[in-house]
Amino acid sequence: MSWLRSVSALITICACAWPGAVGQGMPKIHHSESTEEYLSKYYIPVEEHFITTEDKYILRSFRLPRQGAPVVLLQHGVLASSWCWLVNTPNRSLGISLWKMGYDVWLTNSRGNTFSRNHTELKPFLDKQFWNYTFDDMGYFDVVANVRYILNATSRKDLTFVGWSQGTSQMFVAAQGPDRDYLKSHVNLFVALSPVTYLTHQSSLLLSVAQKFRLGVILEKAFPYDVFSWSELPTLGSLLCKVTLGVICDITVDVICGRSQKDSSDAILNLAAHFPAGTSIKDLDHYEQFIDYEHFGRFDYGTMGNLEHYGLELPPEYSLSELEIPTALFCGSKDTLAGPKDVERLKMDLKGNKHVVFSKEYEDYSHLTWMVGLTDEWITDLKALLRQYNPVRPMEASELLV
Ligand SMILES: *[C@@H]1O[C@H](CO)[C@@H](O)[C@H](O)[C@H]1NC(C)=O
Ligand SMILES: *[C@@H]1O[C@H](CO)[C@@H](O)[C@H](O)[C@H]1NC(C)=O
Ligand SMILES: *[C@@H]1O[C@H](CO)[C@@H](O)[C@H](O)[C@H]1NC(C)=O
Ligand SMILES: *[C@@H]1O[C@H](CO)[C@@H](O)[C@H](O)[C@H]1NC(C)=O
Repeated sequence: MSWLRSVSALITICACAWPGAVGQGMPKIHHSESTEEYLSKYYIPVEEHFITTEDKYILRSFRLPRQGAPVVLLQHGVLASSWCWLVNTPNRSLGISLWKMGYDVWLTNSRGNTFSRNHTELKPFLDKQFWNYTFDDMGYFDVVANVRYILNATSRKDLTFVGWSQGTSQMFVAAQGPDRDYLKSHVNLFVALSPVTYLTHQSSLLLSVAQKFRLGVILEKAFPYDVFSWSELPTLGSLLCKVTLGVICDITVDVICGRSQKDSSDAILNLAAHFPAGTSIKDLDHYEQFIDYEHFGRFDYGTMGNLEHYGLELPPEYSLSELEIPTALFCGSKDTLAGPKDVERLKMDLKGNKHVVFSKEYEDYSHLTWMVGLTDEWITDLKALLRQYNPVRPMEASELLV
């Protein structure tokens, strides 16, 4: 990585040209563009890291490095990728904005998305077993692998974990799993943007239609390996159009997440350039199971399967109340996936838990506003929390140059 460091030092020296270089808005992102290419427009250096989980998945992370600075890990949501933290104007893209503020920023990628199709033994496009996972596995394996790797690489004691959507489900699972003591002492703050646990009241067009038309079964036949990747969109779109009798003919972020007037269409287009980034059918199935049952628990294999997997007829529920990491809940009043009613249920489970340090509902925010919003309210709140739980020293002008 040392050549990268020299290049990044060189690049940072040019940062004085920064404010005029990109203008007030943001450049348009093209599908063929790499993270490195895009961030070079802002003179931001990028490192790539490969992180191996205990069950041998290899996850690719992007680091916007600041040697020795406090660390923030940003974990994207379902069907998304590390791109989601970069698509808005620089001040409103959390990845860019926190790096500018002086943080060492790591953008992790979930198993099976376009960046993390890698395994020490399984071949993603030959072995179906590669796709045999849900956010449960991301919770039990990916979270702790990422945190351990990043703390080792940075020689820091702890970091802040910011999760969006599925990124929060993962952390809620991890925080009550076997590594909870490790995470408790090494995660100084967990920021949950659109916390996804219960889904009884969700009204996402895609999830509702998926459940109604039993899309899981149909999709699994058509796409035995990954599903919802960018390259498959044309085929997937026409298949969905047929099986949903015309309800869904176009897969866009809006269809999956809904949107609000507070969202910028330019930023949504930028997000769409690398969305959807794919996941397993089983992952979507697992979420779908929560629509029927008011429950947030492990994968339901049916009575026989559950007896085999868990020794119980019903899948065990996750113990949300065991959360011991300082946690901040950011919710949107117009969120169709993590809507106010379902978040209320989560808050009841966490009632009296002194580790919930912040909880706010943002007026007219959709599931996407954190990524593509025209508003600064939430980012101002998040930065205030960081100043308290993971403060960065104000940077000297000279430090910005090296
Ligand atoms: C971005 O934020 C910085 C400080 O946080 C501020 O000085 C600047 O005016 C902001 N730029 C825009 C375009 O909002
Ligand atoms: C898989 O991971 C290895 C590192 O373990 C890396 O060198 C290789 O480029 C990765 N392959 C892909 C397709 O990401
Ligand atoms: C998926 O993994 C589970 C164990 O976690 C196993 O019981 C099941 O048979 C696997 N399914 C497939 C299709 O490989
Ligand atoms: C920890 O980091 C050092 C170098 O910084 C590396 O040599 C070592 O392999 C890392 N250990 C783990 C478990 O990643």
